[in-house]
Amino acid sequence: MKLTLKVWRQKNNKTKGKFETYQVEANEHMSFLEMMDVLNEDLIAKKQEPVSFEHDCREGICGTCNMVINGRPHGPLQGTTVCQLHMRFFKDGDTIVIEPWRAAAFPIVKDLVVDRSSFDRIIQAGGYISVNTGQAQDGNSIPVEKDEASASMDAAACIGCGACVAACPNASAMLFTSAKVAHLFHLPQGKVEAKKRVQAMVNQMDEEGFGMCSNTYACEAECPKEISVDNIALMNREYFSAVIGSEKIV
Ligand code: SF4
Ligand code: FES
Repeated sequence: MKLTLKVWRQKNNKTKGKFETYQVEANEHMSFLEMMDVLNEDLIAKKQEPVSFEHDCREGICGTCNMVINGRPHGPLQGTTVCQLHMRFFKDGDTIVIEPWRAAAFPIVKDLVVDRSSFDRIIQAGGYISVNTGQAQDGNSIPVEKDEASASMDAAACIGCGACVAACPNASAMLFTSAKVAHLFHLPQGKVEAKKRVQAMVNQMDEEGFGMCSNTYACEAECPKEISVDNIALMNREYFSAVIGSEKIV
């Protein structure tokens, strides 16, 4: 298949970017990232600068393969990361527009690569438990009710990719932060620090410059792991209950 790619090129966060147009030949069995590899091999052969993009696992696990494809974070397929998207979902002759995540809290590093360390700082603020849970056997001896275990596992599926931020008109990180709050909240080990955690993580999220949630649900629609906005409701409830009922964490 012959494709026209319009790819965002930007040297760094200090310079202006623009779209460059490239022609590439791919086949329908390639993944989207393999098609990008072909583009870069062509560019290198022509002694031109290859397009910078992030990837690691190529298995939908690590959350690094972040691109907006034809206006949609992670492209046109529901519940699918860029690395799991295949070229058979495009047609011969298609023009594909490829951009980075666009959010003030995700500054562009180069081309399609953005700095998502703001997410790391939200996790560092409280996305952990400090109790010693012992070895696996001890951990398993604490009973967890099935519905709670399932809710925790569903929230823990978040891979921290940032598509929720890229999809949101307010560049809100509520879906990501709430998934990280919820997966610990639902477990007995996570209950101990739940109030402190939710305040610290929401405060850090605000400090990083992410916008507020206005219930468009674009985040849930574009999330490759189909994380539910129910987690946002849980986080809001727990945050207000923690702020009203306890010490304020600064
Ligand atoms: S909630 Fe979904 S879109 Fe947001 S970071 Fe997690 S996996 Fe990515
Ligand atoms: S490269 Fe790891 S999720 Fe896509």
